[in-house]
Amino acid sequence: MSSRHRIRVTVNGRAYERDVQGRRLLVDFLRHDLGLYGTHVGCEQGVCGACTVLLDGQVVKSCLMLAPQADGRTLTTVEGLAGRGELHPVQEAFREAHGLQCGYCTPGFLLSAVALADRGVVLEGKSLRAELAGNLCRCTGYQNIVEAVERYLRQTVGSRRG
Ligand code: FES
Ligand code: FES
Repeated sequence: MSSRHRIRVTVNGRAYERDVQGRRLLVDFLRHDLGLYGTHVGCEQGVCGACTVLLDGQVVKSCLMLAPQADGRTLTTVEGLAGRGELHPVQEAFREAHGLQCGYCTPGFLLSAVALADRGVVLEGKSLRAELAGNLCRCTGYQNIVEAVERYLRQTVGSRRG
């Protein structure tokens, strides 16, 4: 038997209050309690990155966290990126660079890229691949994903630097 916890979280700018079991995984909470199915489940052991979300702006793998650990925190999932019917710039960059095929890994890559941009990081090539190593893709061979993230970082961080 597992204890229940009342948790309060802000996800994509919206406040939620829910009772959850102590052993409820954050990824299951997002998907099944909040209906945010854009956060995917792959390996369930912290390897593939399909479950990547931002917790207070930091990249986390939501299969490695319990929902009660997110109490009082702010989360961003892929559903929080696009606004008012327009793609987020990182989604636009993936579209332009053909950075996806089946799309299963894509939410994780998008959020990892957003975290890099928020840190003001502009990376290319091998160093960017090293930063993205926590996200696996079974389809693309990575080249177009890397190009999409390079494009996004150049446009976003580069324009902030003026
Ligand atoms: S499902 Fe979380 S890292 Fe693979
Ligand atoms: S596009 Fe299919 S797993 Fe990456």
